Amino acid sequence: MRLGTFAGKEFTEGGEILAEEDVIKREEAALQVRQMGKMMASLFYHMAKEVLSELGEVRGTELVGRAIKAYGSERGEQHRERVLAAGIEHLPENYVELGDLPYLGWDVEKVVPEENKTHIKITYCPLAEYWQEKGAAKIGRLYCGVDQAKYEAFHPDSEYIHLKNRLDGDECCEMVCRQKQAMAKVKQIRDDCRKRLIPYTLKAFAELPAMEDPQILDMGCGSGVPALTLLETYPGRLWAVDTDAESLEWLREKAQARNLAARINIIRASLFDVSLPGESFDIVLAEGMLNVVGFEKGLPALVRFLKPGGYLIIHDELTDDEAKQRIFARHHLEVLQTFELDANVWWQGYFACLEALIQREETISLYEKELGEISDIKNHPEQFCSVYHVLRKSFL
Ligand SMILES: C[S@@+](CC[C@H](N)C(=O)[O-])C[C@H]1O[C@@H](n2cnc3c(N)ncnc32)[C@H](O)[C@@H]1O
Repeated sequence: MRLGTFAGKEFTEGGEILAEEDVIKREEAALQVRQMGKMMASLFYHMAKEVLSELGEVRGTELVGRAIKAYGSERGEQHRERVLAAGIEHLPENYVELGDLPYLGWDVEKVVPEENKTHIKITYCPLAEYWQEKGAAKIGRLYCGVDQAKYEAFHPDSEYIHLKNRLDGDECCEMVCRQKQAMAKVKQIRDDCRKRLIPYTLKAFAELPAMEDPQILDMGCGSGVPALTLLETYPGRLWAVDTDAESLEWLREKAQARNLAARINIIRASLFDVSLPGESFDIVLAEGMLNVVGFEKGLPALVRFLKPGGYLIIHDELTDDEAKQRIFARHHLEVLQTFELDANVWWQGYFACLEALIQREETISLYEKELGEISDIKNHPEQFCSVYHVLRKSFL
């Protein structure tokens, strides 16, 4: 029976289009899916906006997050049922099998399942496009919690991290899904060994005068082993900045577990474009990051955050000391203290511990980077010397 027309097409009771062709082109189908995705983004945006304006940012964010978690969990459970019914092994990395996202509409550039982890890169998402066009990236970002919820419900041993997100200003979305327990072990081992070098960070801080409520910036903080120790040792507040989403996620978990979350601001950004006010920190710390970004380029970018009279602590490779002294002078930095860590300190303090702990592990492949470094220090110990500089910015 003919029902009428909708959007220029004719419909029967069964819903099918009374047209000559009953097959539409892939391009048209993708457009339809994108349109639906944008409508879903719009519905989420309007509902979340109302909740936030009614309940305020803190409570509103909590409730929207809870709803998204419930929604994601339901999808993750359904996904698990599909995978089990198809006889596929129920492993975190098998999440990419039989997913529920329409394969039309999203542009997925790569899905790389590796041992213990899967990498996913999405270059187009209709929902993100809608929220960006609407200038509502922050609200839209609340929706992205759906991914963690889906993965956790799919397999309780899944850890899912957004390495990049269009709504955070990245050019695409990139995610990694891994076995939670195996990764927790890797992170713990790295931290346990990193902690053994903490006395040197504290030695540098001991050069500074006592401060009542210092504002500390840790640039290139990594997983925050020094940052958390500083918060437990000194009063004040710390801003932890790094480009690496995985390390920051781990830092966030630890800060919460150690009851330090209220005194730390964790920011994913680069030294060169982080939006923090200039000349506002009493202490800036940069351990192991100037050698990554380049000393001459990185140093002024750090100094701009220091209050006049503020302190800069750098832990860097032991190279080009004369050139560095000239750069310090050019940026009005007075050298208060300098001390070196030789290859022996690095071996005894860090790499020997790493080697011993890794040897006890079953999944050696998770420690590829560390094993490479252990082999490097054995072959070229002279390259593993480092230096701390404790500096003060002049009042000029
Ligand atoms: C060797 S790790 C040191 C981590 C930590 N400071 C520590 O001592 O344990 C260097 C860190 O610098 C970060 N990094 C590299 N380039 C950066 C940039 N442009 N802005 C901010 N962080 C950066 C890396 O992601 C990495 O976490």
